[in-house]
Amino acid sequence: MSPLSEKLRTPADSTLAQSVLSVRDVRISDQAHGREIVHGVSFDLTPGRTVGIVGESGSGKTLTCRAALGILPAHFEVTGGAIELDGRDITGLSAAEWTGLRGSTISAVFQDPASYLNPSIRVGAQVAEVIRVKKKVGRREARGQTIELLHAVHLRDPELVYGQYTYELSGGMLQRVLIAAAIAAGPRVLIADEATTALDVTVQAEILDLLADLRDRTGLALVVVSHDLAVVAQLCDEVLVLRQGEVVEQGPTHEVLHRPRHEYTRLLIAEHEQYGLDRFLTPEEDL
Ligand SMILES: Nc1ncnc2c1ncn2[C@@H]1O[C@H](COP(=O)(O)OP(=O)(O)O)[C@@H](O)[C@H]1O
Ligand SMILES: [Mg+2]
Repeated sequence: MSPLSEKLRTPADSTLAQSVLSVRDVRISDQAHGREIVHGVSFDLTPGRTVGIVGESGSGKTLTCRAALGILPAHFEVTGGAIELDGRDITGLSAAEWTGLRGSTISAVFQDPASYLNPSIRVGAQVAEVIRVKKKVGRREARGQTIELLHAVHLRDPELVYGQYTYELSGGMLQRVLIAAAIAAGPRVLIADEATTALDVTVQAEILDLLADLRDRTGLALVVVSHDLAVVAQLCDEVLVLRQGEVVEQGPTHEVLHRPRHEYTRLLIAEHEQYGLDRFLTPEEDL
């Protein structure tokens, strides 16, 4: 059986499915300054579902993700609540236990894909190395699996891309390579933290389509983080609106977007509508 089809799972019925990521009233504090930054975030994620976290810069979106990935910056700690990954409490795991989980249970892609790749090593070899270490397979097998993954993330010529360097690839292609690396070990949860922010609108839509496709084919659960409501609206079943570390609104995406209850959510929607409109209006001086 091919490594990809091995990983294919039927999306489970979300009403029956077990939570793969459960975040309960999580609080995160900067211990160096003795202040709480994230004041209680809760959500439950089942296979094949997507939760969105939206809010302006500095609202605590990335810290929330990093807590779930066990990579909080120095001095930062989860100081309240609980995080469970696949039914397992992850607070207080050792570094070695985290190394086992990261990539194979929970994985992530961030903004600026180029910074996660070594510019002097062919990109395919870097993905293959992740596979070799995570799945304990030989070099030849790792190469074969990498080609399959590059294909699965819809890179048109996987053999060619395998041998290329970062400078030869566009931002969108690099993000596809990183998504391939992130899903290589078959995680149950993938976090996309501003993963499309640096890309132009068309490429952004293609990457979001890819994430939706992977989710729908494999039952991967997604956490999509963005300051852009449109990104979250496109993919998510549920959305959390975060402001200054506080969840001001949370619910099914269509309800939050169509019947926002909080002033801040209305503001985000209004800003977005204005932005969307601006893109389609031709400035008068251009007529
Ligand atoms: N590495 C860090 N060092 C110091 N402060 C940080 C660090 N990361 C985040 N913070 C603080 O936490 C707040 C929330 O950050 P973050 O979660 O990155 O926000 P977001 O992803 O929503 O833009 C920031 O405003 C900042 O004050
Ligand atoms: Mg962030």
